[in-house]
Amino acid sequence: MEELKKIVDNTFEREILEGLTSYPKYISSKFFYDKKGDELFQKIMELPEYYLTRLEHQILKDNKVEIVKSFDPSREGFDLIELGAGDGKKTRILLKELVDKQYDFTYKPIDISQNAIDGLVSKLNEEYPTMDIEGERGEYFEVLQRLNTLSNRKKIIMVLGSNIGNLLHPKAITFLKQLREAMHDQDFVFIGMDQKKNPQKILDAYNDESKVTAAFNKNVLSRINSELGGNFDLDKFKHWETYDPETGTAKSYLVSLEQQEVDIKSLSLNITFDAWETIHTEISQKYDEKTVRWMSEQSGLRILKSYSDIENQYKNYIFSK
Ligand code: AVJ
Repeated sequence: MEELKKIVDNTFEREILEGLTSYPKYISSKFFYDKKGDELFQKIMELPEYYLTRLEHQILKDNKVEIVKSFDPSREGFDLIELGAGDGKKTRILLKELVDKQYDFTYKPIDISQNAIDGLVSKLNEEYPTMDIEGERGEYFEVLQRLNTLSNRKKIIMVLGSNIGNLLHPKAITFLKQLREAMHDQDFVFIGMDQKKNPQKILDAYNDESKVTAAFNKNVLSRINSELGGNFDLDKFKHWETYDPETGTAKSYLVSLEQQEVDIKSLSLNITFDAWETIHTEISQKYDEKTVRWMSEQSGLRILKSYSDIENQYKNYIFSK
């Protein structure tokens, strides 16, 4: 446990050093999720502008019986592995359906945030005392390496919430390829992917009026302050969102409002920012049918079924080998 924490911390230090000494500067969005970051993301999911969670929730609710049937779970026991489980609110719909139908399964939620995993597992243990749950802290690519030690049964692997959108296409395809390699013929992947739509709606979702997303984005600077001894002044950075309707890529930045210097003690680092210099912090990729088909061809996964809301603003896909 201690050992794992050390590795995690080192990754944080190493990647912050790497990203803030590059030009242009960047920080990976996987570092958003400490306790405060988890709370802010919970708030984002409640925002009127952040449509993703509500749409996916509705899709799962409307199609839970069919989705679970497609997983073909009746014959043997299986593991339901969820990457980036978070608070598991949407997954609950499927979990309830699986419990109601008395399937033999173990739910294995994995998240980058230990805080999120602890919260989720203790809540589910209360709600479903008989459900097998094994939560774990982990990162996507690291977990993929050990998927087959994690489970030697039939596997359903879920990536909900358009979490895959944090990866640019080449990385997402590598991710899907590695998933495929870990899969057997009877396994399925279930993935939520936000779709291209009115660009204004997308911009609004990542630049909400109440500024929760701005606080979420800036929280990574607070994390550097408290965990690495940094002295970022959050008021000297502006949250900025862009969306390119051609590529479907939404990007988040922190823009330095003035020329300034920042010290990060534990990295023995002094960084200078020019006025209007950027730190790129996140991508949230939006998809269309052609792109998803291309990705499935590239990765060798088959699109078995897809489910969407009436306006096709959000889709959940079932892939098989
Ligand atoms: C959790 C990665 C799906 O990109 O929509 C929400 C994170 N960032 N608002 C997303 C996020 C800003 C979210 N994902």
